[in-house]
Amino acid sequence: MKAWPGVIEQYREFLPVSDRTPIVTLREGNTPLVPAPRLAEATDPSLSIYLKCEGFNPTGSFKDRGMTMAMSKALEAGSRAVICASTGNTSASAAAYAARAGLKAFVMVPKGAIALGKLSQAAIHGAKVLMVDGNFDQALSIVRQISETHPVTLVNSVNPFRLEGQKTGAFEVVDQLGRAPDYHLIPVGNAGNITAYWRGYREYQRAGRMSELPRMVGFQAAGAAPIYENRVIEEPRTVATAIKIGNPASWGPALEALKDSKGWIDIVTDEEILQAYRLLAREEGIFMEPASAATVAGLIKTVKAGRFESGATLVLTLTGHGLKDPDTALESASRPTTVPPAIDAVLAQLGL
Ligand code: F0G
Repeated sequence: MKAWPGVIEQYREFLPVSDRTPIVTLREGNTPLVPAPRLAEATDPSLSIYLKCEGFNPTGSFKDRGMTMAMSKALEAGSRAVICASTGNTSASAAAYAARAGLKAFVMVPKGAIALGKLSQAAIHGAKVLMVDGNFDQALSIVRQISETHPVTLVNSVNPFRLEGQKTGAFEVVDQLGRAPDYHLIPVGNAGNITAYWRGYREYQRAGRMSELPRMVGFQAAGAAPIYENRVIEEPRTVATAIKIGNPASWGPALEALKDSKGWIDIVTDEEILQAYRLLAREEGIFMEPASAATVAGLIKTVKAGRFESGATLVLTLTGHGLKDPDTALESASRPTTVPPAIDAVLAQLGL
């Protein structure tokens, strides 16, 4: 079997690269599309549910698909440094790919609202990490201004190459499933990924690789739902820190994706997110971070509302790995029990 070359080489004909583009890759992509029969059983057994497990990318989130493109193009353009604002995953990915490319990385994250794993990734890859005493939207505004006036490439998803790379998620779903799903469910934060998936599906259809387009269904956390509420949220709040965003950069394109695909956007509460988070881990053996669980929470809510027709095929993008956020996992599960090193004491705990 040929080794997976990473998303740029795999989907070169669909991407704005040339022979002169130095490809910066960690062999991202080719993530598993896992059937979820227990989830179907728990919601509507007539549904075919598949989980696109993006947490299995090199840095543990879907951001690597966009970062391989952004970093390759930055290097091609002669850039020496990159900058981003992030709720965590973008900064982890930017730090790793910048290290790979030999570029300096500056990342800005909201203080107190970034999961531990993500922070540790940015740090160990050698990025300069700034914690802003504010939120993601404020940090993004600052790095955008800096990138306009200083010799540093912005690698947030407002960098057009990011979404180009991320659209390969849709290509893979079609390659793995043999068709597009009837519905594609996805969490929405800065709204880049929903935009990228829709672009990917449309391009694949145009290229004759699939026929029917899916309907895109986005989910925001109830305390951070600017698109759903149609207003900027000044102080977004949610346990799913990855999507704690009040003024998404790709707001307009996301609305278009929802409209063009005859899809919709909905909200899920933190309680629903945490329930889905535990369900996914316990029933399907898949540990994804809370923002990803928002999609599963959305599935449960939507099935209850009767919005999917019987027998439909659904793909859920699970955007980031559970290990990114160990604190939330430990807070959401029962704590380990300490025992002395003695068989009787251990047996007393096991109830066998
Ligand atoms: N899920 C995870 C795990 C994320 O990290 C993000 C975004 C999203 C979903 C939402 O995707 O922004 O394209 O709508 N994280 C960004 C970051 C904002 O900085 O890591 P989106």
